[in-house]
Amino acid sequence: MKWLVRGPFHAWACAALAACGHGANGSGGEDVDGHESPLAEYSDSEEPIAALPRKIDVDPRQVDLGKRLFVDAILSHDGKVSCLSCHPFSKGGADGKARADLAARDTKGKINVTTIFNVPYNATCHWSGEWDTMEGQLDTPVTSKAALATDWPSLVRRVRDNEGYRRSFEAVWDDGVTETNIRRVLVAYEKTLITPDARFDRWLAHAEVLTDAELEGYQLFKSYGCVSCHQGVNVGGNMFEKLGVMGDYFAARERDTGQPVTEVDYGRFRVTKREEDRYVFRVPSLRNVDLTAPYFHDGSTATLEEAIRTMGRYQLGRELDENHIVLIAAFLRTLDGVLPEEPG
Ligand code: HEC
Ligand code: HEC
Repeated sequence: MKWLVRGPFHAWACAALAACGHGANGSGGEDVDGHESPLAEYSDSEEPIAALPRKIDVDPRQVDLGKRLFVDAILSHDGKVSCLSCHPFSKGGADGKARADLAARDTKGKINVTTIFNVPYNATCHWSGEWDTMEGQLDTPVTSKAALATDWPSLVRRVRDNEGYRRSFEAVWDDGVTETNIRRVLVAYEKTLITPDARFDRWLAHAEVLTDAELEGYQLFKSYGCVSCHQGVNVGGNMFEKLGVMGDYFAARERDTGQPVTEVDYGRFRVTKREEDRYVFRVPSLRNVDLTAPYFHDGSTATLEEAIRTMGRYQLGRELDENHIVLIAAFLRTLDGVLPEEPG
């Protein structure tokens, strides 16, 4: 089967570059123009999924500072937790747990950790899309009791009191260590955490051969309509949809696991307070999805195959047969990209 609806997908792929990443560089556009991609030929591809650019241009001095801070527990109030604590690269930039659960914290997270990879290609940040910019998003880990459990003024003071950081920041900006500059360097570093060269992207560039099973899985992904929600550069990340379009996911969860609906399940409703946004979530990116188990905002699902079955049932109203699930999973595994090296 050939994918015929070309125009809108192309437009959506571009829209995916708009908000979270766009806000991140203030003026917008650099993400799109600044990347270097030998695979750029596929921006005109007829496929509903576009290859990831290899990189986004960012000031290397800012990246270096951001990288140092990302792994440094100096950001947390008690020097025990860093960004990397919940976003280890070996777990696909998430933490491999249902919800964030750090030994150093009494307060546990309420929601599954989203990946730190390819964030500039998500239109918004978080499951509920509560942040439009990557700079803004940082308020959540900084202040959350389950994470750094601090506040900006004391975080800035700790970084400024460190002579190494003070000098390095002053080499980039006259005003040195400030809240704005700390946000800037962390975002600059996050923009380098792209996972290009997935086998699927290389296939799009005619630089790789996929197996028959993988290709069949891709055809099923399109023909079942997964692609109506998961598409564009990030194979998701650019729209909001209800979890349970075709059936009551939450009633089934409560029946099967005894887990009742709690506030985090309200999804986008928490942000907009509009009734039609209840149970609506950002459609997640499926890049590196093989690595980011357990799945869904509630971390309820241990395997990729089970997640695909759930999607068939509640998003498409279909019971997918076992063989099709295996094929779709084989396709999804071709979305594993080359991971950046874990700092530290
Ligand atoms: C306690 C664990 C924890 C720590 C520590 C932590 N995060 Fe996260 N991070 C999360 C969780 C949970 C989410 C998803 C929140 C949601 O969707 O409501 C998330 C989401 C994100 C996202 C959004 C990705 C997306 O596309 O949705 C970014 C960016 C991010 N974190 C960066 C950071 C940075 C930078 C730091 C350090 C300053 C940090 N995180 C520290 C748990 C953590
Ligand atoms: C109507 C839109 C829609 C359709 C169609 C759809 N999905 Fe999803 N998908 C979502 C949303 C929304 C989520 C996040 C749900 C949540 O956790 O609250 C999601 C989550 C997922 C996840 C889990 C990702 C993670 O990081 O936790 C996988 C895997 C997935 N979808 C695969 C598929 C497959 C395969 C199909 C086709 C069989 C499909 N989806 C069809 C909207 C959709």
